[in-house]
Amino acid sequence: MRAYKNILVTGGAGFIGSNFIHYMFSPSSGFKGNIINLDKLTYAGNPLNLEEIEKKEKGKRYFFEHADICDLENNIKLLEKYNIDAIVHLAAESHVDRSIHGPGAFVKTNILGTYSLIEACRTIWKNRKDVLFHHVSTDEVFGSLGQEGFFIESTSYDPRSPYSASKASSDHLVMSYYHTFDLPVTMTNCSNNYGPYQFPEKLIPVMIYNMIERKPLPVYGDGKNIRDWLYVEDHNSAVWLVMQKGNIGESYNIGGDNEWENIHLVNTLCDIVAREISVVPEELKSLITYVKDRPGHDRRYAIDCNKLKNDLGWKQSVTFKKGLEKTVKWYIENQKWAQSIRSGDYLKWMDTNYKER
Ligand code: NAD
Ligand code: DAU
Repeated sequence: MRAYKNILVTGGAGFIGSNFIHYMFSPSSGFKGNIINLDKLTYAGNPLNLEEIEKKEKGKRYFFEHADICDLENNIKLLEKYNIDAIVHLAAESHVDRSIHGPGAFVKTNILGTYSLIEACRTIWKNRKDVLFHHVSTDEVFGSLGQEGFFIESTSYDPRSPYSASKASSDHLVMSYYHTFDLPVTMTNCSNNYGPYQFPEKLIPVMIYNMIERKPLPVYGDGKNIRDWLYVEDHNSAVWLVMQKGNIGESYNIGGDNEWENIHLVNTLCDIVAREISVVPEELKSLITYVKDRPGHDRRYAIDCNKLKNDLGWKQSVTFKKGLEKTVKWYIENQKWAQSIRSGDYLKWMDTNYKER
């Protein structure tokens, strides 16, 4: 089992990153070292996601660096300043719809940013073997499945959106640093995460907020696209396990064994939200509106994560029912968080994305 003292988390103010930091400071992780969060605070990064950690740990075991991962010189400086011995690389442009509207930011952050970070590691770590670059990637790099089959680690890459193409490129770069420079790397490819602190441009929080506000619930295409949903804390426990026990130079798939058609999921969310806000589910279901499909919309993702389960002993801890109930309650109860996001640029983006549908 590998141990680390100073972990640099990139994108730690985003959805998965902030949940990862909460997890690392919880007793479940067993981690005793320091976390340095490097985040540019784009529209998706929110300091409120880490308010409690800041109060308890800032300047003790938690440090925040407001910067861009594309800045190679700064990355080198931070690796030296904090004597970093592991990186969890989460910072990215992460929303498929936005990558259709403007691919440039995705190429810059996801490809050049990953290069600037891993090149800084090569510069500073040289031939050290007691260090790790862990790259967090997505199942979307494998493309789109039909009714049958699952993605395994050796499935050929077939990315189909600018987002997934930029992630695929970053995956290849990271693996090339292992093969060419012997840099210690691990990688995970995960399915759709859900849970607290997810920016409300993604399906589940969009639907919850629109239900609360009795706005139309926009379902893309015929609503029959399939995603495999995983609670964010279970994703993060898998990432931490791979960092400690995964084979160097290898990738691990992470998934929830939990495939849902979008329309089935939206109907289920209507039932849960209706219970929480004491209305009849039919009132919310009547808001479901089929809209123009996402261009190049991948039909089905499904992950086989037996390697992670059999080789490393990973298990999920949250059932989908419990996870969705906790998630719905969190968005309803955390109004301060909702207010911090649901104004200005956010409303402009939602308007642009849905006007043309
Ligand atoms: P997110 O959009 O919620 O957060 C991204 C974070 O990265 C934000 O805090 C943002 O400020 C920061 N960031 C963006 N550009 C940056 C830059 N140039 N320099 C420094 N920081 C920058 O994303 P997320 O959903 O938390 O996803 C995190 C990672 O996990 C991404 O790499 C994504 O591809 C991957 N992933 C996400 C999912 C999912 O379901 N959300 C599933 C599989 C993989
Ligand atoms: O599979 C992992 C990926 O999951 C991650 O790599 C991405 O970062 C993450 O954003 C997510 O991508 P998706 O495109 O699958 O997630 P999104 O929440 O945008 O959409 C989920 C499904 O719901 C998809 O089939 C599109 C559909 N959808 C989405 C929105 C926002 C709708 O029908 N209506 C909507 O309003």
